[in-house]
Amino acid sequence: MIERPIHLESAHRVIFTRDVFAPGNEVLGDVLSRAGGKGAHRVLAFVDGGVIGGNQTLLRDIVAWFSARDGELDLVSTPMVLPGGEACKNDWSLVPEIWSAINDNGIDRHSFVLAIGGGAFLDLVGFAAATAHRGIRLVRMPTTSLSQGDGGVGVKNGVNYFGKKNWVGSFAVPFAVVNDLSFLASLPERARRAGIIEAIKVALIRDREFYAELEAGAAGLRALEDEILEEVIRRSAEIHVDHIATSGDPFELGSARPLDFGHWVAHKLEQVSGFRVGHGEAVAIGMAVDLIYSRRVGLMSEEDCERVLKLIEAVGFATYDVDLDRAEAGSPVILLGLDEFREHLGGELTITLVPEIGRKIEVNEIDRAEVLAALAELRERHSSRVTTLY
Ligand SMILES: NC(=O)c1ccc[n+]([C@@H]2O[C@H](COP(=O)([O-])OP(=O)(O)OC[C@H]3O[C@@H](n4cnc5c(N)ncnc54)[C@H](O)[C@@H]3O)[C@@H](O)[C@H]2O)c1
Ligand SMILES: [Zn+2]
Repeated sequence: MIERPIHLESAHRVIFTRDVFAPGNEVLGDVLSRAGGKGAHRVLAFVDGGVIGGNQTLLRDIVAWFSARDGELDLVSTPMVLPGGEACKNDWSLVPEIWSAINDNGIDRHSFVLAIGGGAFLDLVGFAAATAHRGIRLVRMPTTSLSQGDGGVGVKNGVNYFGKKNWVGSFAVPFAVVNDLSFLASLPERARRAGIIEAIKVALIRDREFYAELEAGAAGLRALEDEILEEVIRRSAEIHVDHIATSGDPFELGSARPLDFGHWVAHKLEQVSGFRVGHGEAVAIGMAVDLIYSRRVGLMSEEDCERVLKLIEAVGFATYDVDLDRAEAGSPVILLGLDEFREHLGGELTITLVPEIGRKIEVNEIDRAEVLAALAELRERHSSRVTTLY
């Protein structure tokens, strides 16, 4: 046997800015210049169609910004606009469409793909870029609160296949992530709120102090006030990147996936609801299930459990959805999420739970009857809240 260590080291760069394509903004130029090499860097840009409506001058601004840097940066074609949202991850035909654009424009491993859009769009374009020529350098520009604070700053991409979330995909560290906070202004309310839940998640698994800040800011977050929302997204991105860089397992070779706290239910619920329930909303419900479950099996105190449920509700998320109770042939569909989660990770089932705020543990067994009892509690909680409201 010939065995040699191969050391791979990469920088994970996340930069915050505003109005990234304003004439004097050098953030993107500066980060691309890190690539070194001779001649102008070729860039092919893809834009999430959903971003255009609220940012009517975006395409013009991109073209103007690049033309002002002619000789250093070469935008090889007008930005390509493709549909975004979860639907784009369910439409395989978009993958070869992106490959064709990469091929037709002579984009190679020394060029860049620039992806501007929500988390779903970045997952799609990131996957196509990672598989073209075995990996083209990718600059991600997340445009939603969730992707700026969570998915967009990670190292994963992928699309849905066999009706399963992220079944096809790869791990690839992006060349850079540029978070332009001005994009948040055009987001509809649901998408603006979604990032808050991933911030709560990352605080729960890693950072008690940040959790306290979220509680203190709950009213402002509920009202989606700019200042607090932006601060929470920045902090969430930072903790996510710290986690990826220091956990010792950036490409998730082990079975543990702490950033996926609450996600085994979430992924299944998104799918069962036909993606009516958005990712952020599903994560809120998924965390609620895992919190109540943890309390029921004696892993978490009643007090901490209630405290977190209250925060999730205080910032404006529901903790129940009717599709949690869907059954097929008499058995609850949501439980299939456990098997799918294990299959996706490979190896033994590993679920991250939070015994107390700021600390995580991994468990390898989940008592399905207790999950069903947790679902029943959430259903009950929901109906009593609805009764109280009216
Ligand atoms: N790769 C990862 O590590 C990772 C981690 C977490 C989540 N994700 C994935 O991210 C996806 C969810 O991403 P998301 O929450 O960003 O939602 P999204 O990408 O589904 O976008 C939601 C909607 O907002 C639109 N939109 C995007 N930016 C906009 C803007 N600035 N103004 C107006 N509309 C805009 C999109 O077109 C879409 O219709 C899921 O597919 C999830 O699986 C990936
Ligand atoms: Zn998530």
